[in-house]
Amino acid sequence: MKSHALRPLWVVIGLVVLVLIARAIYVPKSFGVHERGYMYGWYRADNIEDWKKVTVKYQGSDYCNACHPDKHESISMTPHAIIQCENCHGPALEHPSDPPKLTIDKSRGLCLRCHTSLPYPTSGRANIRGIDPDTHNPDIECVMCHNPHKPSLEGLK
Ligand code: HEC
Ligand code: HEC
Ligand code: HEC
Ligand code: HEC
Repeated sequence: MKSHALRPLWVVIGLVVLVLIARAIYVPKSFGVHERGYMYGWYRADNIEDWKKVTVKYQGSDYCNACHPDKHESISMTPHAIIQCENCHGPALEHPSDPPKLTIDKSRGLCLRCHTSLPYPTSGRANIRGIDPDTHNPDIECVMCHNPHKPSLEGLK
């Protein structure tokens, strides 16, 4: 019997076989459902060990308070209070022994990461006041006019 349905059927079977072969080659051995059944769904068990190897490198802003209380106090009453010090100054796990001083980045890039005006009204990022870097005092460091620890517009330098 000759059927016009047969040829596409072979194509479909061929594709299914290809997908199964590719899956056997590319899906890691430890991927699947583990002891807790479907509680955590499908995941790669080796990933747990990968994450255990990630070392902590941040302290959190409370740590800085002990030695830089002026900075802590100044920023705490401003809209920048929600930003961790280390977001701008880099990881400080061993500071002040290593490194003795943290990064002071005065580049426009530091601020533009959060303050470039973006046209995505539904993202939370759009709630941060944005400027157009090409027209807002180009080529001058933001910190020449704005104090990062006291960014209110009343506090302009
Ligand atoms: C145990 C005290 C201590 C703690 C805690 C501490 N620092 Fe420091 N920090 C220092 C000392 C000491 C210096 C060197 C000061 C100097 O040489 O002017 C320094 C320098 C710095 C500098 C460079 C200042 C400059 O003028 O170059 C920055 C930025 C800084 N710290 C940020 C932080 C941040 C952010 C935290 C919290 C994550 C923090 N520090 C926690 C003691 C501390
Ligand atoms: C929004 C980014 C940002 C945050 C958040 C921030 N800083 Fe800074 N910080 C800067 C910049 C930029 C400078 C350099 C300012 C300048 O030279 O005009 C600076 C300078 C400093 C200095 C050294 C120079 C000085 O003014 O005495 C210290 C110490 C410091 N910051 C500590 C802190 C601590 C502690 C916190 C958290 C309580 C903090 N910073 C939060 C951006 C930030
Ligand atoms: C020459 C001084 C100067 C420089 C440099 C400067 N600004 Fe401003 N900025 C101002 C003044 C003045 C205002 C208030 C009037 C206005 O909105 O233009 C302001 C307003 C702002 C506002 C509030 C806008 C709003 O809609 O309320 C943000 C955010 C801002 N600046 C971020 C930045 C960033 C980020 C940089 C660096 C890329 C920067 N500024 C560089 C002077 C400056
Ligand atoms: C990690 C994100 C982040 C970084 C980096 C950052 N800001 Fe902000 N900034 C914010 C948020 C969040 C607010 C509060 C919401 C708002 O007013 O837009 C804010 C508010 C401001 C305001 C408005 C203050 C007011 O009273 O209305 C100015 C000006 C400002 N930032 C300047 C700067 C400058 C200059 C830098 C770089 C030194 C900087 N910011 C870096 C997140 C950031």
